[in-house]
Amino acid sequence: MENETPNLETLKIINSQAIESLNAISQTDSLEEWRIKYLGRKGIITQLLKSIPQIAPSERRTFGAKVNQIKNNLNAIFVERKNSTKNLSASSKTNTNQIDITLPGWPFPKGSLHITTQMIKEISDTFQSLGFQSTEGPEVEFDHYNFGMLNIPQNHPARDMWNSIWIEGTDTQKYESMLLRTHTSPMQVRIMENTKPPIRIIVPGKCYRYEATDATHEWHFYQIEGLAIDKGITFADLKGTLYEFAQKIFGEGRQIRFRCDFFPFVEPGVDMSISNFKNSSGHRPIKGRNEDWIEILGAGMVHPNVLRAVGYDPDIYTGFAFGMGVERIAMLKYGIDDIRLFYSNNLNFLTQF
Ligand code: DAH
Repeated sequence: MENETPNLETLKIINSQAIESLNAISQTDSLEEWRIKYLGRKGIITQLLKSIPQIAPSERRTFGAKVNQIKNNLNAIFVERKNSTKNLSASSKTNTNQIDITLPGWPFPKGSLHITTQMIKEISDTFQSLGFQSTEGPEVEFDHYNFGMLNIPQNHPARDMWNSIWIEGTDTQKYESMLLRTHTSPMQVRIMENTKPPIRIIVPGKCYRYEATDATHEWHFYQIEGLAIDKGITFADLKGTLYEFAQKIFGEGRQIRFRCDFFPFVEPGVDMSISNFKNSSGHRPIKGRNEDWIEILGAGMVHPNVLRAVGYDPDIYTGFAFGMGVERIAMLKYGIDDIRLFYSNNLNFLTQF
């Protein structure tokens, strides 16, 4: 063909060869090779077009028209073929990536309540079932409420019981000194100032102490305060209430024990322990603790000075109060041996609860 002048017969052959080889192509890469061979700038069809001037003038017109017709036709079937291959490979791709609905899905990481929050909720529910309401109060507190109104005046030695974090820069001429509350007891006073008896209320909340941390001490922790004021409340009510609490949180059959303790805002003041005796198989109910009795909270009958300070007549009203550390209760209940685990954001620890 290169040496001879092409004629209409040559065109026919080239045309059918081109179509045949295009139909035989199975891979995308080969399509491009085909295009270059036939329709490229140096391709067969282009050469045929270039050869038109050599054609005998009488045949030139027909020949030229035929070449152009073949070129357009080949071009059209090439484009069509190319598009269909593209679609085919796209759809074969989606086929292999199709979602297999029988496979298990990715696990969705689910958050949960912090152990302290859960414990507060559990304790609150227990007291709620005994008729107690629940409220909260400020973490930055006046000296007046944290100590003064609780029968702990300035320079009283009992202040040493609470290592306090004072707020610097309090203008003591204008305001009283402020601190991060060392316990939730100031809420006893705030509640009594604003409420007429009868009162049955608990106050969960965060407290702070100026203390070095170790396995049993944190400088920030939660307490739950309790207060019940009414006519004729006695120590028997305190005992009955806290006994119920111990049964609900630590299990039926738990014994409780009271011992004298000193807190300036109660008289008498006590600490309460729960029993931890070995069972018949020699195991103690509280994991990791080897004592028969474990102290869990402080309590007492509200001191007459405290009642008087809020304007209650101690000859008419009496009441009891108690305070417990939330993390401490959780540690005993779940056998946690280091209080620092609570706030070190270790998910391995936290997700157990
Ligand atoms: N506020 C005390 C403390 O932080 C705990 C306490 C003891 C609270 C006796 C009370 C109570 O209400 O009656 O150590």
